[in-house]
Amino acid sequence: MSVKQVIIQRRAYRSLDPIPISTELLNDLAECAQLAPSCFNKQPWRFVFVTDRSQLEKMYQALSTGNDWVRRSNLIVAVVSGREMDCVIGEREYFLFDTGMANAFLMLRATELGLVAHPIAGFDEARVKEILAIPSELQVIALVIIGARAEKINPELSPRQIASEKQRPERLPLESLVFLINSNHQRAIRRCYD
Ligand SMILES: Cc1cc2nc3c(=O)[nH]c(=O)nc-3n(C[C@H](O)[C@H](O)[C@H](O)COP(=O)(O)O)c2cc1C
Repeated sequence: MSVKQVIIQRRAYRSLDPIPISTELLNDLAECAQLAPSCFNKQPWRFVFVTDRSQLEKMYQALSTGNDWVRRSNLIVAVVSGREMDCVIGEREYFLFDTGMANAFLMLRATELGLVAHPIAGFDEARVKEILAIPSELQVIALVIIGARAEKINPELSPRQIASEKQRPERLPLESLVFLINSNHQRAIRRCYD
């Protein structure tokens, strides 16, 4: 599969089955994240792989309403970083940007391997930090929920969630997110904030 095919194949499906967990799989995903670019090569990302049954049960307790579908996954990756771990240039803080890129590499590799890798922000960060013993100065930016796509749609999903299993949620049109610099560019960029 080409990178573009993997990008197209990636979807945030919520109907999941558990997967066989192996050291090879975890290393493979970690190695892809490891190769991401970062400001001054600071590599601010940390990934905590949760596969242990009792830890998973605790993680399920930290989920927000609407994320019960996560309980079908047996691999949760906590994506962790901190402001001080990466470049800060004036008001530009790079830790979220760089960690996001590394996470995207991990997610695309999972997709290439035929898995679903679904990022979520709907969790209680304080509880997750306690469960995983994450130092207080760091942030748990997201959890990535990994599983196999189930053949049948999870009947516990909401109507909106069921709709997005069938069809990818709509994207903004290209003309509202991409701008070509030319003599009209100032007008184009203003439109971006309309
Ligand atoms: C930072 C972030 C947070 C998200 N949080 C949740 C979440 O808490 N629960 C959920 O079901 N999906 C969550 N999603 C998934 C998005 O809803 C999904 O990516 C979006 O609707 C586009 O669908 P697609 O990824 O299948 O193209 C999140 C995605 C991102 C990137």
